[in-house]
Amino acid sequence: MWRRSSCFLGLPLPRNASVIRRRGESLCLFNGCSSDSRLKVVDALLGAVTWEQEVRVQGWVRAVRAQKEITFLNINDGSSLQSLQIVARPDLDIRGITFGSAVEIWGKLVRSPHKKQSTELLADKIKLVGACNPVDLPFKIKERHSLEYIRQFPHLRCKTNVFSSLLRIRSEAFTAFHSFFKNNGFIHIHTPIITSNDCEGAGELFQIEPASKTAEKHNNFFDVPSFLTVSGQLHLEVMTGAFTQVYTFGPTFRAENSQTRRHLAEFYMVEAELAFTESLKDIMEVMENLFKTATSHILSKRPDDVELFHKYVAPGQKGRLEQMMKNSFQVLSYTEAIDILQRSMETFKFEPKWGCDLQTEHESYLVEHCGNIPVFVVNYPYDIKPFYARDNQDGPQHTVAAVDLLVPGIGELCGGSLREERLDLLQSRLKQHGLKETYQWYEELRLFGSVPHGGFGLGFERYLQCILGVENIKDVIPFPRFSHSCLL
Ligand code: 4AD
Ligand code: MG
Repeated sequence: MWRRSSCFLGLPLPRNASVIRRRGESLCLFNGCSSDSRLKVVDALLGAVTWEQEVRVQGWVRAVRAQKEITFLNINDGSSLQSLQIVARPDLDIRGITFGSAVEIWGKLVRSPHKKQSTELLADKIKLVGACNPVDLPFKIKERHSLEYIRQFPHLRCKTNVFSSLLRIRSEAFTAFHSFFKNNGFIHIHTPIITSNDCEGAGELFQIEPASKTAEKHNNFFDVPSFLTVSGQLHLEVMTGAFTQVYTFGPTFRAENSQTRRHLAEFYMVEAELAFTESLKDIMEVMENLFKTATSHILSKRPDDVELFHKYVAPGQKGRLEQMMKNSFQVLSYTEAIDILQRSMETFKFEPKWGCDLQTEHESYLVEHCGNIPVFVVNYPYDIKPFYARDNQDGPQHTVAAVDLLVPGIGELCGGSLREERLDLLQSRLKQHGLKETYQWYEELRLFGSVPHGGFGLGFERYLQCILGVENIKDVIPFPRFSHSCLL
């Protein structure tokens, strides 16, 4: 007999969902997509079911404790940092179930008599789905492995507590950034991954060619040289011809031959572009709000996961992040920044000089100088910024309206600028760089209802490093790509 019910596993159902039960089974139909009585560990721990209800849990064994009569298993399914305790009676067949094995368990959820957890599952049946030899597994039960150690096993590290926490935080951060833009009226644009431009003009491009070059016709798949994108900015600028606020969030590629703790060959960038803006202040305001709103979102949705980092990976980071969140970000001009660096007692490896890019050591010094609060550095020398940056036309120390956001522990998190919308100035800049041919279409944007505009890009991995206190960028991305390394 099928019958409809108004709740599912003790929870009120969404308006468009229904539960159909047959002989103790439950089937939930959410928007026409069906799932069965499987329960996520996070829901079990939150007490999202009625006590004594029959449920099924799937996951991986994080701990096994055999006592005289009873065996306790901790099961984790990636939905939460916490695992669900399973109580296995002596008559249940648990042969072959070890640390790391994949299991499916049927049973009843009950209140736990132990202080450590509120809920546990009294197992009726345990099925070994995938065996695991714990001796060969590079991670050991109860051991806290360093991020550096687990980095050696990109195909297995999602099984550790710390990396699964990182992946949940990363997923939440992705949602937080999208929500911020959606809530603030931005339109999301899918900018292309394959492009024919070098937005940053730094020549750090990966060129695209078909792998098979046997057939002559395949040699030039595209009619023009084409590359993996280094930034979606120019495509976003196209969209500011019809939309006042746009953003993109996608993979970005740079053939930078540097093996630093903050560079990857493939990373994710969040980029926003605002039309009808004549001031860097508007752009800085979006950057600061984005940082603070996304961080609050993550802290409230993933407190346990963030705490793991703040407690064990980067002690002291909680306080440092609080400082960043409660204070207004500082602002320095590039000229002031150089002045501060030159007047400091610090011995820098690279001498700070007006007209040269800020080095990481300079960025760290400036952030410390500002009390470890993020700092915007504005108005950079004309000669060190790309062709699109808007000329400030400001005399002997010629600058452009560009801004970098520097944050504690990382240095540059965001780079942005106002864009040169004045056709004559843009034309002469493109000519000077020998780019007139390539960017005819970009010039043309200035002919049809062009408006002052500007925007910025934020490195997603550097953002995660910054809020969590992670030293190495390779530890905040699922599969890091950097020079001489493309594992998996
Ligand atoms: O400063 P960048 O190069 O700015 C741009 O690409 C602009 N076109 C963005 C825009 O205005 N729409 O890069 C933006 C940010 C940097 O501040 C940094 O956080 C990150 O992207 N980034 C990297 N992150 C990891 N690995 C790399 N190799 C990175 N290069 C830049
Ligand atoms: Mg930059």
